[in-house]
Formats: sequence, structure tokens, C-alpha cells
Amino acid sequence: MHAKIVALPGDGIGPEVVVEAERVLQLVAGKFGHTFAIERFPMGGCAIDSHGDPLPEHTLAACKQADAVLLGAVGGPKWDDPKAKTRPEVGLLKIRKELGLFANLRPIKTYQPLLDSSPLKREIVEGVDILFFRELTGGLYFGESGRRPHPSGEQAYSTMIYSTEEIARIVRLSCQAAMKRRKKLTMVDKANVLEVSRLWRQVSQEIVSKEFPELTYDVVLVDSMAMHLLSRPRDFDVVVTENMFGDILTDEGSMLTGSLGMLPSASLGTPGPGLYEPIHGSAPDIAGKGIANPLATILAGAMLLRHSLNLEEEARCIEAAVDRILIEGFRTKDIARGGASLSTNQMGDKVIEVIKG
Ligand code: IPM
Ligand code: MN
Repeated sequence: MHAKIVALPGDGIGPEVVVEAERVLQLVAGKFGHTFAIERFPMGGCAIDSHGDPLPEHTLAACKQADAVLLGAVGGPKWDDPKAKTRPEVGLLKIRKELGLFANLRPIKTYQPLLDSSPLKREIVEGVDILFFRELTGGLYFGESGRRPHPSGEQAYSTMIYSTEEIARIVRLSCQAAMKRRKKLTMVDKANVLEVSRLWRQVSQEIVSKEFPELTYDVVLVDSMAMHLLSRPRDFDVVVTENMFGDILTDEGSMLTGSLGMLPSASLGTPGPGLYEPIHGSAPDIAGKGIANPLATILAGAMLLRHSLNLEEEARCIEAAVDRILIEGFRTKDIARGGASLSTNQMGDKVIEVIKG
């Protein structure tokens, strides 16, 4: 097959990790008889510097025409001024909205060889395999917001808003995924307080009972979920939740695996290209040092092959290579626990070496 992939390396360690993922994708393409045209475009802080816009028109146009988009990370202290005209994150929210990427899949799976890298006890994190579905184009992130005068100074408001349709489409996707896994779905909300959560509860209950009666389904309040995620993470299979709850819970969940540097994510909509990125941010503190862990981005490349190009075997080939490398004891600094570590580039080389066989 021939595929067009747009790479948005972004800021901080973004370019360093994206380059490794590009190399791995090209190798896999060659090995399985495909051709991938990977073209880079500016987005984030670097695009503010070069084009005055975190998501320049030509970048967005290229993404819309691509089969898939691979993103590094955006943001950094340079663009953090609250008074600035625009921010790197604005580009990220805009690309999600423009590409209709309403479903953010965040798998949280622990790797046996890294169990001791987690701040949590081994007996808790062993065998954890959760797939989060975070709603990505609604809720507080996109609801009406603003400021108005107030006797004490000002008043600011952000609105959490969801329609039946916005809830139904992501709940359906999460149900379909659960059917292919352990057939367990957990919906997380705050229905004891929020009206919008009560709509989530109503809509998901109806979809599950009418369309997916085989699923074991439960609802958990977001505050309890924060706790259960640390005390009994193995009990969860697929978890679906709204935008902000998903943002927070998946960062918490990432610690089960020990390092943010290991976790990929996929943002999907239908139809059109999906967007794939590591969960970690631009990590400005280590940018340019060549020590970032490229595995999350390499694994995002595997998700890209699976979800956007329908290349399951190719995706597994990358995932198996990462498993092997970890079993053999190769580590970047973030997962080395003070031991010997490889550079970003050397870790990329290792993946390539294993795939070449
Ligand atoms: C994420 C990030 C973004 C979010 C920020 C950078 C806007 O934290 O992808 O989880 O909150 O969605
Ligand atoms: Mn986040």
C-alpha cells in the first residue's frame, strides 16, 4: 500500500522522538512492501515563531489530505506568557476539532520488565491492561467560556456541555472495543453533582442495554475512580469518560506503568485521518539532550498502522520489538532507575535492529 503521513514534530523533545518513529515506520514499510510518504509540517510553538499561528493553514490542509498524522509534542516555557496572543495548545485543540477527532484512545498497559519502575507496588500494577476512551472534542474544553465584570473584580466561566450524539458516538466506540477485549466497560462521571453527567449515564446505559447486552457494564464516580485506579487497576478493561475527566485520569493512570515515556495514544474520528502521539508532553527540561524515550512515539506509530492503515501485522511487529528490547534490558534514562541508559537515537537503533531480525 501507499500511505501519506503528515508528521508534526512540534516543540521540545517532539522532533527528537518523531524522527525515531519515522525511521521505524519507514523500515516497516520496506519490510512489508509498502511505501510511506512522510512529510513534516510546523505546529505548536515553533509554528507561532515561524508563522505567527500554532496551526498554520497549510499544516491543517496537509493533515486533512493525509491518511494519518503523527504528532510529537507542543508547548514550552517560551510560549507560556499568559498575555501572549496565542498559545501552542490552541493549535492542538484546533486540530482535534477540525479533524473531528472525538475519540482519544489511551492504552495503559504495564510491561513486565518495567514493573519496578512504577511508584506503585508490583502486586498492584502487574497485569494492568486498561484502554481509556477519552472524549476529545467536547465538554469544558470547547464549551462557552468567558469573563464578565463582578463586584469583586471579575467572574470567569467555562461550560461543560454535551449532546446526546456526542456522548453516543464515543460510548459506542468504547463498547465495540470492549467486545473485542474482556467485555467490561466502565463509564466514569460525576452524576451525583453534574447534570451533564446524568445525560452521559442515561445515554450510555441505553446504548449498552440495547446494543451491547453482553457487556459487563458499570458506572463509577470520577473521584472514586481516581482512587480505584491506584488500589485495583487490574479490575478495569475499557473505560469511557468525558474530556476533562479523561485528561486527568489518564495522567494518573500513566504512573501505573512507571513512565509517561512509554505511552502512545490515538485520536480518531470518522471518517478522515487519525492523529497519533505520545502521551508525554514536550519536556523542555530535557529537550536537545538526546535522552528522551522515543518508545511512546514509536508505539504511536504502531497504533497509526493498526487504526488508520489497517496494518495489524505491521503494528504487532513494532510492538513485539519494543517488548523484546525491554526484556533484554535496554533502557532510556526515564526507565533506567539509575542504571545504564541509551540515548534517544540508540533506542531507535535498537528497535530497528530487532525489526530487521
Ligand atoms: C493532553 C494534554 C492537552 C489536553 C493539553 C496540552 C491541551 O494535556 O493531550 O492530554 O489537556 O488535552
Ligand atoms: Mn493531558
